[in-house]
Amino acid sequence: MTVISGSAGNPLRDPRDRRLPRVPGPCAVVVFGVTGDLSRKKLIPAIYDLSNRGLLPPGFVLLGFARRDWDVGDFESLARKAAQEHSRTEFRDDVWRRVASSLKFIPGSFDDDAAFDQLHDELNDMFHSHGIKGNAAFYLSIPPPAFPVVLKQMQRTGMADNERAGGWRRVVVEKPFGHDLNSARELNGLVDDVFGAEDVFRIDHYLGKETVQNMLALRFANTLFEPIWNSHYVDSVQITMAEDVGIGSRAGFYDSAGAARDVLQNHLLQLLALTAMEEPVSFDAEAIRIEKLKVLNAISLPDDLARYAIRGQYDQGWLAGERVPSYLDEEDVPKDSKTETYAAVRLGIETRRWAGVPFYLRTGKRLPRRVTEIAVVFKTAPHLPFDATDTVELGANQLVVRVQPDEGVTLRFGSKVPGSAMEVRDVSMDFLYGESFTESSPEAYERLILDVLLGDATLFPRNEEVDASWRVIDRLEEFWEGSEPEKYRAGEWGPRGAEEMLASDGRVWRRP
Ligand code: BG6
Repeated sequence: MTVISGSAGNPLRDPRDRRLPRVPGPCAVVVFGVTGDLSRKKLIPAIYDLSNRGLLPPGFVLLGFARRDWDVGDFESLARKAAQEHSRTEFRDDVWRRVASSLKFIPGSFDDDAAFDQLHDELNDMFHSHGIKGNAAFYLSIPPPAFPVVLKQMQRTGMADNERAGGWRRVVVEKPFGHDLNSARELNGLVDDVFGAEDVFRIDHYLGKETVQNMLALRFANTLFEPIWNSHYVDSVQITMAEDVGIGSRAGFYDSAGAARDVLQNHLLQLLALTAMEEPVSFDAEAIRIEKLKVLNAISLPDDLARYAIRGQYDQGWLAGERVPSYLDEEDVPKDSKTETYAAVRLGIETRRWAGVPFYLRTGKRLPRRVTEIAVVFKTAPHLPFDATDTVELGANQLVVRVQPDEGVTLRFGSKVPGSAMEVRDVSMDFLYGESFTESSPEAYERLILDVLLGDATLFPRNEEVDASWRVIDRLEEFWEGSEPEKYRAGEWGPRGAEEMLASDGRVWRRP
């Protein structure tokens, strides 16, 4: 396999050629909270997958930090199990031996100075023994309240200091970035005190999904769609992220967040930004950020929020033949919780391209199935030279980007039904990743971790995007404050209010 090294590069290859696999230079990844769910289900498996694909450098170290009385052997068993159960690529012993030989574990709590001093010393030792040259990424896979103390420890020990380390130092922060605009600014301020702006990587894992990146290819690599991608042709846009699962054992986090903060603030607004943004002048991180930010800053909320901002909470019901409990009966959820597990909202974008086009966003748990899609619904033809009965089964043309599952793109349009009569009915033309490509899509975390190590920030939201998104969500939260979410039965497509919202605009939600 031909590869490009992230730093030195192969002199025979153009390092800007993005078709070739990119391998970062020698480095360490330090995961705080390495025994947690995210680390076991996503981070460790992604690191295994990257190693299996030959995308990690020979000088690589994965250092776990957690409050466990463990040695490296215990860490290795946890990591092995995580890779076996959750990796995307086949589990192979020889690959695992390579990953296992890169593991280190430091036991300690976040307020334990000695443990951080030890971490600092270990890193320094490894820089010499593994030729890592001071390059390290720190992954904060920990609850946000623990951020300040960990960041302070990094500052105290000088671990975050690029110059002192003689290599790069980067920090990876998981969403949620704060709870509202003020707390997000506070959090960003804290991180910015310790790391330079280019060294902060905020993860929104939706941006790591292949199908989400494909929105940019679809729009800007083709001539077909861009001329009709505006209010002259587009009637409305529907962005849906539906899940059939409930909240599982995440009540501690979820009950204080709710669907709007958990998903709308980040994943859905990022999907909206990619759908609506202007063409960036180039494909680098800064050019894309500028265009996304313009869209996020141009979002408007309708005056009539009672009609256009709907929240719901799932009641008990049936899903896939199983009876499932209501949100209030989930483990550790207070019986009087008013947290929403469903949110739907109508947004506008105040630009010439999008003026008057409603963007309907919805997300919910315990809906009939797991599906994320962006549907661009086109205006109907201004004149139909058919008898009215010929076109009863003709709907609006739609372009649907299927983010997951069944990744691909569908175009819905009317076609003549075969026969001697004239009858037009909707049909679908489908592009399916699985059929058109032999390569399978990497997991979002594989892509994002690799990009952190390469220092490529294209798929990471910046501070200003986070702030702009909170401005929208804060307005919603203020409006909802103290109100009861409308109940919907588990296994149904959300509360009645969401249906009524579209009905009052003369539209219906797609049934994905
Ligand atoms: C996370 C949310 O960001 O995304 C979860 O916190 C949600 O509530 C998850 O379940 C969904 O991710 P995916 O990749 O399975 O669609």
